[in-house]
Amino acid sequence: MTERTAPAATQGPSPVPFVPGLADVPAARSSICFIDGDQGILEYRGLSIESLAEHSTFEETSYLLLWGKLPNRTELEKWSKDLSTNRDVRFRLIDLLKTLPDTGHPMEALQAAIAALGMFYPDRDPMNPTDRYNSAVRIIAKAPTLVAAYHRLSLGKEYVSPREDLTHAENFLYMVAGELPEADVARVMDISFILHAEHSMNASTFAGRVTASTLADPYTVVSSAIGALTGPLHGGANEQVIHMLQQIGEVEKVRPYIEDLIHRKQKIMGIGHRIYRVKDPRALVLQKLAAQMIAKRGTDPLLAVAQEVEKVVAEHLAAKKIYPNVDFYSGVVYEAMGMPASLFTPMFAIARVSGWLAHWLEQLEDNRIYRPSQIYTGTHNEPYVPIEERV
Ligand code: COA
Repeated sequence: MTERTAPAATQGPSPVPFVPGLADVPAARSSICFIDGDQGILEYRGLSIESLAEHSTFEETSYLLLWGKLPNRTELEKWSKDLSTNRDVRFRLIDLLKTLPDTGHPMEALQAAIAALGMFYPDRDPMNPTDRYNSAVRIIAKAPTLVAAYHRLSLGKEYVSPREDLTHAENFLYMVAGELPEADVARVMDISFILHAEHSMNASTFAGRVTASTLADPYTVVSSAIGALTGPLHGGANEQVIHMLQQIGEVEKVRPYIEDLIHRKQKIMGIGHRIYRVKDPRALVLQKLAAQMIAKRGTDPLLAVAQEVEKVVAEHLAAKKIYPNVDFYSGVVYEAMGMPASLFTPMFAIARVSGWLAHWLEQLEDNRIYRPSQIYTGTHNEPYVPIEERV
């Protein structure tokens, strides 16, 4: 065998320091979303999340994210109409959902269905402006239909077709329950969609931008992002939070449960954030909504348990600047609305689709394929040992 010296140049010591999790490493220039993690400020296109939650709708916010400004009346009417008239999906997609095992998770079904959705629309060239617009409309409009359809079908219920005369939030709740939602519940859903619509360069957005940078079509971009959102360290946390609160069950049991987790150095779901060093501003809005919803409908022990968890966590972790994130109270809100826990992360995805698509459009404006480096830690010049001589 010829002796080789270790290849030096490309995979050797990097001129750039290695940062695990790419913490604080800029991966793009972006004008979509601003976060000040020390002060708890979150803005979409310069507008505060609090003002959007108070005054806007998901339809208007998704327009703002994708097209960079608040729409005027005519623009909003056209955008809302394009979304509402594109909600229906081909019956073969419903057939596809029927064939998926009911042991799967709705997020897996959504990821598969969004990837498959693109196959029905050949006009999905990322470099063609008309294809770009139509693809964005279709994905935002149809994601709720796919989530609601898989949910009902996996329970052995009939698929409920979307209605064009309802808002995005009303229609989603209608398709899940098969009946029209109360107005206050629909508005809470709408606000939750606004709060979840975008959050800068997190794991799923990065996954989507990496896929976008290869010039893959938008359906593939969004399905990549959905896959990344699924994990419990990201969007999957909201479902885990409600399971944790249900498992704790009573306020008196909070302290031993949380202290045991901290003692065992386990992560408490819905707590902590890479960017925020104060309480997530979205969690503040959601906490208020949860309290309002619950006050109107009687009591819900889960809110009291959640608030006690927050108190005990603060006693132990405030010194590390670790506070509740968006996923901590969203589950309590959804639970109070009567939504099943398996839909919590898909509801996050339905909203976040608009942020991912805004990043997809932005990535294409000045694209360069993502290709980071690595620090090679393996060996060199290993002999090829015949299989019969290997231990
Ligand atoms: N529970 C307990 N301790 C936590 C914690 C949590 N949820 N989140 C962070 N910490 C602690 C870590 O143990 C670590 O402590 P140490 O410095 O003494 O070792 C420190 O805070 C930093 O944590 P780290 O995991 O390095 O932060 P990160 O920026 O890599 O991770 C999250 C951020 C969000 C992934 C992390 O906080 C987490 O796993 N949270 C729970 C899952 C969740 O809610 N995800 C949704 C995010 S919106």
